[in-house]
Amino acid sequence: MEKIQSIRGTKDILPDSINLWHYIFDKFNQVSNKFNYKEIRTPIFEKTEVFHRSIGEGTDIVNKEMYTFTDKGGESITLRPEATAAVVRSIVQNSILNESPTARLWYFGPFFRYERPQKGRLRQFHQYGAELIGSPNPEADIEIILLANDLVKSIGIEDYQLLINSLGNANSRKMYRDKLVDFLNENRDSLSADSQARLEINPLRILDSKDENDIELLANAPVILESLDEESKIHFDFVINTLDKLNIKYEINNRLVRGLDYYSHTVFEFRSNHLGSQDSFGGGGRYDNLIENLGGKSTPAIGFAFGIERLILILETLNKLTANADSIDYYILTQNSQYIPFAFEIAEIIRSNDKSAIVEIMRRSIKAQMREANKLNAKFAIIIGESEFENQSITIKDLTNSTQETIDLSKFLTSLT
Ligand code: HAM
Repeated sequence: MEKIQSIRGTKDILPDSINLWHYIFDKFNQVSNKFNYKEIRTPIFEKTEVFHRSIGEGTDIVNKEMYTFTDKGGESITLRPEATAAVVRSIVQNSILNESPTARLWYFGPFFRYERPQKGRLRQFHQYGAELIGSPNPEADIEIILLANDLVKSIGIEDYQLLINSLGNANSRKMYRDKLVDFLNENRDSLSADSQARLEINPLRILDSKDENDIELLANAPVILESLDEESKIHFDFVINTLDKLNIKYEINNRLVRGLDYYSHTVFEFRSNHLGSQDSFGGGGRYDNLIENLGGKSTPAIGFAFGIERLILILETLNKLTANADSIDYYILTQNSQYIPFAFEIAEIIRSNDKSAIVEIMRRSIKAQMREANKLNAKFAIIIGESEFENQSITIKDLTNSTQETIDLSKFLTSLT
């Protein structure tokens, strides 16, 4: 029979790398706890409308990348391409803000985007993200950037760039958009075909173009930070000045616009030189209108997400990955299948004392079983032969220093506690 391959752009996380995933999850869980963020888990799929109404009709995600299908009941369903919209849907639905004006939330899980797979870009990938809901003030921006920074450092990544920009409030953004469209229209013929298409639907995204001619042209384009109104400027200055006081390194990048439509005011991205072309391993920003757009009371918020696969790529280049040091405590060898029930009894008692144990299941020779015990890095081998079985005793071999003794089972069991 022919072998079946996994879907392009998906990856199995195999047992030899799962420890790393647990390591990142545990570190992120600990850091989130220190900031008093609580974990939230929303479904893997949502009504398509959740993403259409939030991420924006003119974005690549909504236009090209969503896994959308009609279910058997005729409903349009989408595998989540990101979490913010789903978290907001959940907050509104579960009236989470009725009890307190603020909510601090984090999540970890798989997401789906139909993109062209390449290094650091998958069709099923994983994100850790955090959302701080309820405050319009720049101190919320600071809290969320500090959380993001502490998370990256907690797994040993020190060498990265934090890029920051402001898109301003709705008024500033509209003024800037008009200025930019005027400028781009004057230079329309010099723009790449992609950017010409974007001019109608999402002109701000042109600032993100990778085309060399576009980049050259954009050097003379109006700058968003210069179009901020007073309110937007005060907000951004507070963020920047506080980051300076806290000695957080950042670069202001007036081209940073992000790929989702819900942002306003502060936007930021984490980039690394270790990643190649997909160099952004995290990003986020303020989304003050999203909750209202999804049917809640007007509530400001800010958040971000990291791509876990990209963090792992960085850790790999830094050689920060520790070898898989898995081991088990006891490997139980049996000389004869008759002793297997006795072996399982011992294994269960060992496990109930919080130690790990495996009973031989292949009925191999004692020599082959011993080889297996060594291969699995067992600390001890327990050997059950005829005399051990008859006398309710065990032979226990310390595999680190190769010493061996036969002791009463009862004595062994008391030594476990
Ligand atoms: P995003 O920039 O679309 O933001 O994604 C965040 C991160 O997810 C990216 O920086 C990248 O590391 C990772 N990522 C995205 N697409 C892929 C892919 N195809 N393969 C591998 N990794 C990928 C958001 O998703 C926003 N929801 C973040 C946010 C939260 N904004 C406010 N709150």
